[in-house]
Parts: sequence; structure tokens; C-alpha cells
Amino acid sequence: MSRTAYVNGSYVSHAYASVHIEDRGYQFADGVYEVWAVRQSKLLDSEAHFRRLNRSLGELRIPSPMTDQSLAHVLREVVRRNRVKNGLVYLQITRGVAPRDHAFPNEIISSIVITAKSTNAELAEKAAKAGVAVVTMNDERWARCDIKSVSLLPNVLAKQAAHEKGASEAWMVDDKGMITEGASSNAWIVTLDGVLTTRNLSPDILGGITRERVLTLAAERQLQVDERAFSKKEVLEASEAFITSSTNLVMPVVKIDNEAIGNGKPGPLASALRKDYLQSAAT
Ligand code: PDD
Repeated sequence: MSRTAYVNGSYVSHAYASVHIEDRGYQFADGVYEVWAVRQSKLLDSEAHFRRLNRSLGELRIPSPMTDQSLAHVLREVVRRNRVKNGLVYLQITRGVAPRDHAFPNEIISSIVITAKSTNAELAEKAAKAGVAVVTMNDERWARCDIKSVSLLPNVLAKQAAHEKGASEAWMVDDKGMITEGASSNAWIVTLDGVLTTRNLSPDILGGITRERVLTLAAERQLQVDERAFSKKEVLEASEAFITSSTNLVMPVVKIDNEAIGNGKPGPLASALRKDYLQSAAT
């Protein structure tokens, strides 16, 4: 089946979809993005993603090219046209096309691209049963990681380095030796006394929508939660660890820099929260 993308007002063949060479997203990474998980052809936590999208656009003073309502319609249409049951929708909005000049052009129309793809739910469950490895790396990003900007070069380099070390995620470490987040996910541990711990919201991390959802699920389970920074030493002393993102949902982490976390197997809380998440997504 051929894939369909949405580009600046038109549904086009994914294979031939393109943007102008002077799009500021291409030249300056002057844009933002969102990724929604799709389950049973529905967008998960749709409103929360819109809230974050509008915040990112506002912080960068990029006008939204359409209303949330129209955007929601197009997102659903791209899911439908690509027959995605379980998968992801990607949306990117950039400041638009203009002759190259760093400062914002006076008159410019934001560009928009939407794509959707199916993912293999069985493979994801298999990965969740085994758990994944992470490696630590210096956090070399800018000071506004709370904006979901397409400027992802440090994240790209960190993820590549992780893959070259046989790990699937990089946990980035700030100049105080504390873990900020993953290259494309939020980082969590469960302390020996059962406290679910994840870094507090600040410009140092992206406020993950899955993170937000997991905090709600944790409250429903009456789990103790501490939103604070933690170190690699604490990860090694923890009973379990996991990452959250729209692409991984809740994914147990069993190794950090090649050392086992807890008993080296996916922990019960990570597995329970993943189950809760999938259940809440199915309703
Ligand atoms: N990444 N932190 C970073 C740096 C991220 O890039 C992401 C998501 C998250 C988790 O956010 P959420 O739970 O809203 O997906 C945290 C997306 C999935 C990506 O870049 O593909």
C-alpha cells in the first residue's frame, strides 16, 4: 500500500512529498514537532499533545497554520488514509519559506507536514518483556529543552552513540552529574523503598505527555512519586528503571552503562504501568 503525507494543504504520495529548499526548518531547524501514539486508529492523549504543540509554537512565535480543530481533522485523515491501527503520527510546523536570513522574515506562512506509520505491537511487547539498555552521556543540548523543537542534533548524536554501544537509549547527564532525560524519552527509576522518581519539569527536559499520563496512572495506583533529579549512582541502587515516550510508551530499562539495574530484569512497576497505559489507551 502506498503511503500518504499531508504537506501544506494537500494530501500527497509519501514518496514524492517535499518542501522548498529555503524552508527555515531545513536551513535553521526553525520549527517544532509532535508525535502522537496511535492505538485502535485513535490518537492517544490528543489534547495534551495540542497543548504542548501550541506552547512550543508560542515560545518560538511561530503562528499555527490552522486551528486545532482543523489540525485534528487532518491528523485523523492521515491516519485513515495510511490505514494505521497501531503506530505513530508525526507533525512538523516550521516558520516557513523565505530567503535565508537569520532574523524572522516579515511576511511568512508557516509550513506543515504530517506523516503516519504503522508499528509492530508484537515486537514492542517482546522488547518490553526483555527490557532495554541505556548508556549515559553528557547533556550537550541548549537551555530550552522544554520546547519540542526540531533542532535535535545533540539528541541524534547521543542516540547514535548509544546504538554504537549496543544500547537503545542515551540518558543525558547535566553538569551536576544528574540525569536529565533520554535522547527521545523521559527517564524514571523506582527506589528501593518503592518511590517512583522522575526529573521535575523545567527547561532542562521536555515535559513528556507519556510522563504526564504515567503520573496519573501512578496516582490511581496510589504510588509514591517524587519529581526530582537523580544520579547514575541512584539508578544503580534502584530496584527498577524505565523510559516513557509516545514511541515506547512505558519501556523497562535493565542496564545502564553495561551494569544491571535491580535484578537485571524488567521491574514489576514498569510492567504494571505499561499494562495500565495500554489498557487506558484501549478504552
Ligand atoms: N520524543 N524527551 C525527549 C527529549 C523527547 O524527544 C521525547 C519524545 C520525550 C517524551 O515525550 P512524549 O512522552 O510526549 O512522547 C521526552 C519523540 C517521541 C520523538 O522525538 O520521536
